[in-house]
Amino acid sequence: MRTIITGTGHFVPPRIVTNQDLEKRMNTSDEWIQQRSGIKTRHHVDGGVGSADLGYEAAVRAIANAGISASDIDFIIAATISPDYYFPGNGVLIQAKLGLPGIGALDVRNQCTGFIYALSVADQYIRTGTYRKILVVASEVQSTNLDYSDDGRDLAVLFGDGAAAVICEPHDGEDGRGILSTHLFADGRFVEELWMQIPSPKNNPVFSHEMLDRKLQYPKMDGKKVFMNACERMPEAVLTGLVHNGLTIEDVALLIPHQANDRISQMVAKKLQIPLEKVVRNIDRYGNTTAASIPIALDEALAEGRLKRNDILVLTAFGSGFTWGSAVLRW
Ligand code: UT7
Repeated sequence: MRTIITGTGHFVPPRIVTNQDLEKRMNTSDEWIQQRSGIKTRHHVDGGVGSADLGYEAAVRAIANAGISASDIDFIIAATISPDYYFPGNGVLIQAKLGLPGIGALDVRNQCTGFIYALSVADQYIRTGTYRKILVVASEVQSTNLDYSDDGRDLAVLFGDGAAAVICEPHDGEDGRGILSTHLFADGRFVEELWMQIPSPKNNPVFSHEMLDRKLQYPKMDGKKVFMNACERMPEAVLTGLVHNGLTIEDVALLIPHQANDRISQMVAKKLQIPLEKVVRNIDRYGNTTAASIPIALDEALAEGRLKRNDILVLTAFGSGFTWGSAVLRW
């Protein structure tokens, strides 16, 4: 018994923010952003729209794409670093929007690696026969909590809002299709290299004017350290997955790396010696949508006909934590 993805869908808020738009808000340039990251545009929500709203829209599309009804879903796994509320998590919010009272809803918080962690959890539940139709949904609204002054320009230009979802179901065919493996990694020694410090119950109150003045509510990153580690850990995770399945890089039809920076994706491709035509790269239009970036790219790659039945698909991500991982699938 394996887990197959039977439906995909994505949704991004309609408002497109260009590099030129950001030039008006901080000391940056289209040239700098494109050269350093490959990003041209990203999508931002308008007021009052949260990541659960985007996740709901993506879920509706994935459910339709799978040819099932929302009422067929028996479990929800929601990945995000930008939940609507501190608690409860997005899982129950999306469950309520879909009108599915009673079914379990689990929240996964593994930052840019969130989708791979969530997919791995879904895979375990499907293979053990616990659930038969799991909605895995990753959704992010980053734009409302970025520092658009020069202090935060490294991150403010990188992140975008968006969501994507997949439906996971059991498959016991002889064809060997499905998730072949997932490998999950983390190294908590690097927590402070990319994090958001407040609100935190370690503080009483969880944040103060003084903390807001120090801008601790915004994500902070040591860009170079994150960049270097992403370029090392993602190829390692891909190779671990391939070796585990007795596959080589030549067997891979499509690689979807987390869209953190196009220079990182190119470096990962170079290290793995995989041709760039086999690597999905859509960061130019979306920026870094954290947990949503891989499933958005997957949904687009499928729409573009870049994956055929039985192709080997590899997903890999790296992000805050540090966390990283890979998933190998026979499509
Ligand atoms: O999903 C995981 C999360 N994040 C990532 O994977 C991101 C990983 N890191 C990166 O993508 C890159 O480190 C960045 C794109 C963030 C930065 O690129 P870089 O080539 O590492 O630039 P840098 O940090 O070395 O900065 C070079 C200069 C600095 O100025 P000085 O100190 O040399 O005068 C920065 O202040 O560029 C400046 N800078 C900017 N300039 C214009 C930083 N951000 C900007 C900006 N516009 N938006």
